[in-house]
Order: sequence, then C-alpha cells, then structure tokens
Amino acid sequence: MNSLPIFKAFPKLKETVPWIPLGDFPTRVSSLSRISETLSCQSFWIKRDSESSSRYGGNKVRKLEFEFGKAIERKAEMILAYGSLGSNFTIATCLFGKSLKIPTHLILYDTVNTPFVMANFKHNCEIAQGVTRIRSILSLPYAVSRELWRHRGERVYLMPPGGSSPLSTLGYINAMLELKGQIHDGDLPMPDYIFLPVGTGGTFAGLLIAKVLFNLPIEIIGIAVVDRIITNSMVIKLFIYRAVRYFNRVAGTNLKATEVFKELHLDYRFLGKGYAHPTDEANWAKDLLKREEDVILDGTYTAKAMAGAMEIIRTDLEPDKNILFWHSFNSQDISNDSIS
Ligand SMILES: Cc1ncc(COP(=O)(O)O)c(C=O)c1O
Repeated sequence: MNSLPIFKAFPKLKETVPWIPLGDFPTRVSSLSRISETLSCQSFWIKRDSESSSRYGGNKVRKLEFEFGKAIERKAEMILAYGSLGSNFTIATCLFGKSLKIPTHLILYDTVNTPFVMANFKHNCEIAQGVTRIRSILSLPYAVSRELWRHRGERVYLMPPGGSSPLSTLGYINAMLELKGQIHDGDLPMPDYIFLPVGTGGTFAGLLIAKVLFNLPIEIIGIAVVDRIITNSMVIKLFIYRAVRYFNRVAGTNLKATEVFKELHLDYRFLGKGYAHPTDEANWAKDLLKREEDVILDGTYTAKAMAGAMEIIRTDLEPDKNILFWHSFNSQDISNDSIS
C-alpha cells in the first residue's frame, strides 16, 4: 500500500510528516471461536499485526514506516538503536535498515537470560552491522554518547526507544483507522474491549489517541510487560501529552491530552517478576493459543498480555462482550536473515 487511511482523514499530514511504506496493510482480523467458547465471551478476535510485513511482522513496522521516513529525509548513513538483548525492536530496525541499505549499530543491555532472549540476542548479532553489549541499562546514556562520538562526521539517526515517538505514534492512530474501516466493512463487530501488551507505550498511546479522536466506544486495556520503573502511568501520560501536542500541530486538530488520560487503563498484575521473566499464566495462555487456534505468542510480551486479557474477561466482564486482542509479535521466520 503506498498511502495510509490517516493521510486521507488528515490530508495536511501528507505534506508535513515523513513516511515510507514498509509493511503489508491492512492486517487481517480473525475470530478465535475456541477461545471465546473457553472464556464464555460473545466473541474473541485478533488483529494480526504479527503479519504486518513479510520481512518481519509485529508492532514495530507501523512505527518504523515513520521513523525510517524521517531517517531517509535526513539522509542518514547509519542507524543507532538500543534495547535489551531480547529486543524485537532492534531486530526489526536492522532488517528494515538492511532492505533500505542503511546499516544499523545496536547497543544491547543485559536482561534476564531466557532461551527467547538469547535467541533474539543471536539474531541481533547476526543482522546488525555492529553490536555493543552493556551489562546494565544504567550505562545506556554513556554508551549512546560514546557511539555518537565514535561516528561523529557521519549522519547518524538515533532511533527512539522501542521506535516510539510522537511521530511514530501516527502509525497506531492509523492502525485504529484501519480497524474502524474493517468494522465498517463488517469484517468484525465493534469490540467492547481491546487488549494489548505495553512496553514503551507507543502502540497503546496511538490506539488511545485514536479512540478519543474518533469517539469510539471501545475500552482499551494495556497489560504492562516491562517493570514499573520504566512502564508506568506517569511515563505513558507524558508520552501521550507529547504525542497529542505533535498531532495537533501536524494535523491541525485541537485534541486535549487530558481527554486521552481519562481512557488510560494499565494493568500491572501480569508482569510476574519483571520484564522477560516467564510466568505460569503466560505459559499456559501461550500453549492454549497454539493448541486451539495455531496462534504463536511470545513469552515476554503477547503471552503475558493474553494471560491478562483472559483473567480480566473471566473475572470482571459480562459475557456479552466482543473482545479484540492486538497481536504485536512477529510471525515470520527470520532464521535465514543475516548480514554476512
Ligand atoms: C511483541 C511486542 N509487543 C509489544 C511491545 C510493546 O510495544 P510498545 O513499546 O509500543 O509499548 C513490544 C516492544 O518491544 C514487542 O516487541
């Protein structure tokens, strides 16, 4: 697709924001009838952003379309990105950078050592042009400054954490417009609830802003999958504030961030011991989705969010609700991808 619904809805954006197509949109919505039976809810759907690109799917693609748009506008010769050893975002950045012929250097900090994290670390090392591994997230400011200094004289584009910025939030405002179109076309009913994992909050913020902007009767529940010191309501509100201010400027709207704050529901109960630490509920949800619906979740993000969604549906919601789960984890096999 070489345009987006958001450009049609807000034509001013087309002239003011950088964007390049990277993904395959719209992503499918599918009904998971076995899961809705298990949970006794009216319907259970997933939005398959897992298939957002045949190169590498997941929730980074919509954001990177804007971030790489800006990197290209700035004639970047190199991308600098950072994340944990198990980051999906850094993998996505390297792969799309590679297809755009812009090399990526990564700074990766240690996190809990699980097979998933180590497999992602291996992918990151194989596809990045260079990797700096640091022991603690606390050393990040120093490591980033050091890399920028080392590459002085080159045009380096520093990616925001998790690809989340006021600019890239447009990707998830657009995603909600895309979903609105699918509801309008009868592909799925209007969801009463949307559930999704929340890390840096860019995905969540975009959906929340769009919910208020288009006055949609949907409650969006974010399941925190990163430790509270990083992912908390204050940080997300600050992010929303910046994203709304940016959106008003580039789209010519007059949205109030305080209206969006009222819609913020962030649940921390399903994080377990912390980021990337496995939990029993998440493992159970992951096995169930694989067995019953052939949907693959990851233990760090989507399985925890699914475990949260299931618990909330079972204990707090009336059975007449339509549920949508936003599937944000890549479903493409990348085992054959490497730089050399
Ligand atoms: C699979 C997956 N889901 C969700 C998230 C969280 O997205 P966000 O940082 O926009 O909150 C991430 C972030 O890395 C992710 O990799």
